[in-house]
Amino acid sequence: MVRLSWTNKKDLDVNELKDNSITFERVKLIRPINSSGEMINVWSNKLFWGDNKLVIFYLLSKFTDKINLIYIDPPFATGSDYILKIRMDGNILKEFGYKDNWGKNLDIYLQMMYERLILMKELLTSNGLIIIHLDWHVSHYIRAILDEIFGKDRFVNEIIWYYYNKYSAGKKNLPRAHDNILIYSKGKSYTFNEFRILRDKPVKQLMRESVNGVLKNVKDENGHVKYRIVHDKKADDVWRIPCIQPASSEWTGYPTQKHPMLLERLIQIGSNEGDLIADFFCGSGTTLHVAEKLNRKWIGCDNSKYAISIAIQKFLKQRVRNSRDNDYYPIELLAIKNEKTLKVFNSGFFNKTIEILRGK
Ligand SMILES: C[S@@+](CC[C@H](N)C(=O)[O-])C[C@H]1O[C@@H](n2cnc3c(N)ncnc32)[C@H](O)[C@@H]1O
Repeated sequence: MVRLSWTNKKDLDVNELKDNSITFERVKLIRPINSSGEMINVWSNKLFWGDNKLVIFYLLSKFTDKINLIYIDPPFATGSDYILKIRMDGNILKEFGYKDNWGKNLDIYLQMMYERLILMKELLTSNGLIIIHLDWHVSHYIRAILDEIFGKDRFVNEIIWYYYNKYSAGKKNLPRAHDNILIYSKGKSYTFNEFRILRDKPVKQLMRESVNGVLKNVKDENGHVKYRIVHDKKADDVWRIPCIQPASSEWTGYPTQKHPMLLERLIQIGSNEGDLIADFFCGSGTTLHVAEKLNRKWIGCDNSKYAISIAIQKFLKQRVRNSRDNDYYPIELLAIKNEKTLKVFNSGFFNKTIEILRGK
């Protein structure tokens, strides 16, 4: 078997981690089900603020084999950290967004991903899928790691997301205009729904029918083959979807925010209504918002307070806009209570309106 190696590669002992007593507590009820905030016997969608390694350890006690679909869009190891320009309390501030500079070699990045992917596998149902969104920087390494963790026979697809509307310089190479989205299954059988997309132009297709298990052309009473006009086709593994633009009503300004259309496809293909979806690098919460729209339950996590704040703001806006809000599950914000996090809660940070501005 081929195994990717890196300096200080370490195995992860899941049993040892399960003994770890980290507790995440509800620090805010973002969308109570009624004015008294009762939540008896009701599922609540969960948004974790914290390092996803700790969050996944914590979830293992209750959610092992329970999550139907995991989508993650981790840092791509681009070599540059993300700085946010934000407006808050009438001030314009520059704040650290998230880390994507991992030093000269990729050892730390690969170990970080390796440990988390091992843990995420534990959370998946036996027919669950994991979707990992990357680009040219490390998708080849992560694919080798996924082969090791899930088995190379569990590879389902590599989707090429071609974003035709993003400028990309390339003097000594062709402009890079796609991301690589890897899909692996936990078990041999898994949820996989057909997804159809509109064709650029309708096509005329021969009508076929199955006669005793053999496909035959359908003919009219005069013996002429019959045709039908087809407007859509089964989606293949190259998707032409734009990058989200500032003019879009869905735009949050969060760096590397993904287009909801992309998540709609992935969630519809890999899960059914009522299923539980998780995104442990949720950023502005695109996966969670789409999961909710498509009637899936969800768990989200990010270690940036700005990401969490943007995701919450979007949920609250949706509640105002959407008359169906009584159909939605409550949302809890969970975190480890310590000096650092309490300082943020006590400052009222998660009740403030934050705007992410363009430019430097
Ligand atoms: C590429 S962005 C996700 C963007 C998201 N898909 C969206 O549409 O907005 C990656 C996110 O992972 C978060 N992140 C990085 N390392 C993390 C960790 N160890 N635990 C939790 N979140 C992490 C970052 O804060 C960042 O928001």
